Amino acid sequence: MKKIILDLDTGIDDTLAISYILGSPEVELIGITSTYGNVLLDQGIRNDLAVTDLLGHPEVPVYRGEPHSLETDSFAVSDISAFIHGKNGIGDVDIPDSPRKVENDMNAVDFIIASVKKYGKDLTFVPTGPETNIAKALQKAPEIKDEIGNIVIMGGALTVCGNVSPWAEANISQDPEACDILFRSGAPVTMVGLDVTLQTLMTYKDSEQWRRIGTPAAKFLADMVDFYIKAYETTSPHLGGCGLHDPLAAAVAVDPTLITTLPINMQVDTEEPTRGRTIGDNARLNDPAKTVKVAVGVDKERFLNEFMTRIGNV
Ligand code: BDR
Ligand code: CA
Repeated sequence: MKKIILDLDTGIDDTLAISYILGSPEVELIGITSTYGNVLLDQGIRNDLAVTDLLGHPEVPVYRGEPHSLETDSFAVSDISAFIHGKNGIGDVDIPDSPRKVENDMNAVDFIIASVKKYGKDLTFVPTGPETNIAKALQKAPEIKDEIGNIVIMGGALTVCGNVSPWAEANISQDPEACDILFRSGAPVTMVGLDVTLQTLMTYKDSEQWRRIGTPAAKFLADMVDFYIKAYETTSPHLGGCGLHDPLAAAVAVDPTLITTLPINMQVDTEEPTRGRTIGDNARLNDPAKTVKVAVGVDKERFLNEFMTRIGNV
């Protein structure tokens, strides 16, 4: 059975990614590695533990990841992240704290390395926040690039503009150096960026379906997503719904046939004026070995169907 690690800055759509994986019986969520981004690291850990408990999966271990990017020594949540995800990251919906604690025998970076050693090609790693944890793992144990099954990231934009600047997507903008290390490492990467995640949208009609299920978990997810849809009405009124960024990356980790991809040796611009842009690396244009597959098409209908069904089952 395929093993999955979710690497999250939990976050409303990160929570939907957890729900999608837990609603997918063909894969096993072996752990969550926490990071910063939509929320501070400690709030993300709190959300990971509380959400997995509420969804009936207290067996999922949560590991402490990096609290800030490779080249900084602190991190502050932006006003726009707090507006989109709420102050607590989960749409300001109240759910009980978990009695559990973050794992204390190892941190996220060591858990990633140990899991690659244990599961090899059966392991898919899914970062839906900044790529700091996986960059550190690749720096500490570079050989894992050849051993891991796949790394499916939610991040970047190739054929469309960014969402925090005309060129940068939020997750990459938090730590451009980390994603550049990942792209250049030679590890197999599938990039699920705004090119496809802004094509998969959820509306109030969909959240109402979950609310009608009537369980505390389904009500929580519906209330949380309504907060997200409302924020999108202000930030991106032209879309007519909220972008299902992180759950689409999770879905691709389960079933790569949901997307069509282009093989490209990608890089991240780390210098201004385009810091945070994801783009092909001119210097590796003629290298026949391509390590990144960039998603440029998505079977929207099939994904949305799977999304509603799998999350409805949790
Ligand atoms: C990404 O940024 C975060 O706000 C979301 O959780 C998602 O991972 C979208 O650009
Ligand atoms: Ca995220």
